Amino acid sequence: MSIAADYSEKIPNNVDLREDRRLQRALESWQPNFLSWWESMGPALPTQDVYLRTAVNVGREGWAHFGHVAMTDYRWGIFLAERNQERRIAFGQHKGEPAWQQVPGEYRADLRRLIVIQGDTEPASVEQQRNLGATAPSLYDLRNLFQVNVEEGRHLWAMVYLLHGYFGREGREEAEELLHRNSGSEESPRILGAFNEETPDWLSFFMFTYFTDRDGKYQLGTLKESGFDPLSRTCEFMLKEEAHHMMVGTTGIDRVVERTVQLMREHDTDDVAAHGGIPLDTVQKYLNFHYSVSLDLFGGETSTNVANYYTAGLKGRWMEERRKDDHRLIDDAILVDALVDGRIARTEVAALVGLNSDLRREYIADCQSGVNRWNRILEAGGVARRLRLPHVAFNRQVGAFAGIQASPDGEILPEGEWERRKGGWLPTEVDKTHVRSLMRPVYERGKIAAWIAPPRQGINGQPFDYDYVHLA
Ligand SMILES: [Fe+2]
Ligand SMILES: [Fe+2]
Repeated sequence: MSIAADYSEKIPNNVDLREDRRLQRALESWQPNFLSWWESMGPALPTQDVYLRTAVNVGREGWAHFGHVAMTDYRWGIFLAERNQERRIAFGQHKGEPAWQQVPGEYRADLRRLIVIQGDTEPASVEQQRNLGATAPSLYDLRNLFQVNVEEGRHLWAMVYLLHGYFGREGREEAEELLHRNSGSEESPRILGAFNEETPDWLSFFMFTYFTDRDGKYQLGTLKESGFDPLSRTCEFMLKEEAHHMMVGTTGIDRVVERTVQLMREHDTDDVAAHGGIPLDTVQKYLNFHYSVSLDLFGGETSTNVANYYTAGLKGRWMEERRKDDHRLIDDAILVDALVDGRIARTEVAALVGLNSDLRREYIADCQSGVNRWNRILEAGGVARRLRLPHVAFNRQVGAFAGIQASPDGEILPEGEWERRKGGWLPTEVDKTHVRSLMRPVYERGKIAAWIAPPRQGINGQPFDYDYVHLA
């Protein structure tokens, strides 16, 4: 297998696509559909070109090329991490067997389903973010938005390659469906709830890239462990691109908090709305919303499907190979969140059925690290107030707590009280209207909107005032 991308091909790839004419033709016939989807559902703001990184290699040192490119000419391609000939399945009943290069017949439907669910999220986020370019706080941010968008487009390609390459006619049909479903659509919505929510403003975008993209990171981490080697290698490379999406969210919220602290000090008030900032109360409400809908993406606390996926070797745990256990988990137990006699509690279940909880736990710890980071900015700015993650029972639509209403402290509330108090915890129309009122585009080089601090660093060593985007 060649490692460097072949850019002489219509579809750049490192999978020797030209050796498989049937697959190449199938993908080439999907390509125009992808491009028309991008035209109608991708970034709405017209641009001449954008300073983007394009994957050119999967090697350890340097896999990306940076340059100004017209977005429609972006080379969406197919890249799999390098194959390890020795790779063996690390968990489940096939532990120790060589990783599969083809789809085992008995797991065909399950693997296809896993790939479709992952694949569905990729174009969904592009759709959700379609109009954000119109209100970008700087050219730097605009460039980052577009970078995230083209890479989510590439992730769709990555999943479509697997569907076309390994799942025959059904795979090709699923690939079509991935372009037909649309975020927020009445008739054919995206599969998962959080991907049908709006991303109407940049605070939402940063929260989305922090909390919801981070769910993606954890899901990809479990698929990277898959016994199906092409899926594993695909996800391994996608994770490299995800790191930038995480950075956009983390530093985006850093910069909002930093600016809010400046305004609080300058005007000696918590209510910075009147001074063109986003109050910490509002930041907390947006955080509450995005965190709680992202927790729903992990599914129920217990799941026999996920137990079966694990046992079959389809989907592992986060950092499977670093876990110090037998990687089969047949006799193990785990404590999971549950409603016991109407109270929020924990209950012990077999480790295998509790795997969603295991993954969610890793995710929550990671989310907490961001909150700690933002709190250090508050502390350094001499602000006593702290941000925090709400209780896992707060605002849930999926799992053990879907049927109750709980406060961010994890106190169960009667319906009426929830209704009365939820405006203190989730963004209200007033909060959203204020945030939206701040969303005015700043397209001048080196300038930044007043509600956010500039970044500490530019992209790829370029300064903040670099010409990251040329508008049309
Ligand atoms: Fe992605
Ligand atoms: Fe992402």
